[in-house]
Amino acid sequence: MAAEVGLAARAHVNPAPELQPSPRTPPNSGCRLARVAARQKLGSMFVLRLRAPGWPGGAPGQFALLRHEASARFLPRAFSLHAQDGELVSFLIAPVGPGTEELAEAGVGEGVHVLGPLGHGFDLTEILAGTPRRLVVVGGGVGVAPFRLLLDRLTTHAAATLPEVVVLFGFRDDVQAECLAAFEPAVDRLRARGAAVELETICEDGSLGRAGLVTTLLQEVGLSAGDAILACGAHAMCQAVWDLGLAAGGVRAWFSLEAGMACGVGSCHGCVIRLADGSLAKVCRRGPVFGAGEVFGESRHPCAVPGGDR
Ligand SMILES: Cc1cc2nc3c(=O)[nH]c(=O)nc-3n(C[C@H](O)[C@H](O)[C@H](O)COP(=O)(O)OP(=O)(O)OC[C@H]3O[C@@H](n4cnc5c(N)ncnc54)[C@H](O)[C@@H]3O)c2cc1C
Ligand code: FES
Repeated sequence: MAAEVGLAARAHVNPAPELQPSPRTPPNSGCRLARVAARQKLGSMFVLRLRAPGWPGGAPGQFALLRHEASARFLPRAFSLHAQDGELVSFLIAPVGPGTEELAEAGVGEGVHVLGPLGHGFDLTEILAGTPRRLVVVGGGVGVAPFRLLLDRLTTHAAATLPEVVVLFGFRDDVQAECLAAFEPAVDRLRARGAAVELETICEDGSLGRAGLVTTLLQEVGLSAGDAILACGAHAMCQAVWDLGLAAGGVRAWFSLEAGMACGVGSCHGCVIRLADGSLAKVCRRGPVFGAGEVFGESRHPCAVPGGDR
């Protein structure tokens, strides 16, 4: 498959000298053969729930590599941890190609190899230690996937210690937005514990009311100093979100980034990105969650600045 050829080719690229080391190694990651416990279709996506014996539990924003045991694909595919309960771990998956379509057809009881949890996720201890005014969670398309686990994690904090939580999700259309059903129970649980949670959704085609992007919602809720943004979605969305954060001033932000991945553990150099300071980093080891300044720097994209260089 073309994507695999591309990744394999990139796997043989020598590391650039400025590639930064990945100092933190995720504990407990390992490979296990899981069994499909359930598969639930939600619009254009599906939730794949796996029973993974010995699953150690991971943090929101961490990911796993999945490969159906009868897969015809050489490489596994990366998916954010969506939810977990003991040895049950779930993934929210958008079928976009052969690897995801194999998983979309996996029947209950079938085997799926799971390598994970991998990478570094949203560090809620660090984020909450900054006593944010609000936690603004921004997800675009299947980029909403890690935020179910994040909302679940927030329910383990005393409501009195939590800031207001504002969840903003943007989808292509109302079919993609059907995955909201996977998030509403977590929002309800947080509210039941006394936390202030707002959930807003918008679709690009207007099929849920008016047409717009998730950044439309972000402009409406109005960022201000002290807010903390946690975002996951297309790179352009993340850049636009950070531009709004910079314009507001005093906003901290973390982004879960995507990159083509082969090994997922730092060996192949297939997922290298250039950071704002010009250095290189492996998304699978140093990320996928990065601080905003690390990735985008502290100045707004020229397109976001009135009169800027387009
Ligand atoms: C850290 C991480 C977390 C991810 N979490 C999720 C998740 O929770 N749910 C989910 O559905 N997907 C997630 N993805 C993306 C998922 O890995 C790809 O959609 C999948 O590998 C596609 O495999 P495929 O064989 O079905 O399609 P392919 O034939 O490999 O690709 C189909 C199309 O998707 C594009 N594509 C493939 N991989 C990526 C990628 N990583 N980023 C952007 N575009 C890509 C290809 O260019 C192509 O246009 C994540 C990726 C990363 C790196
Ligand atoms: S995917 Fe191999 S180094 Fe990141």
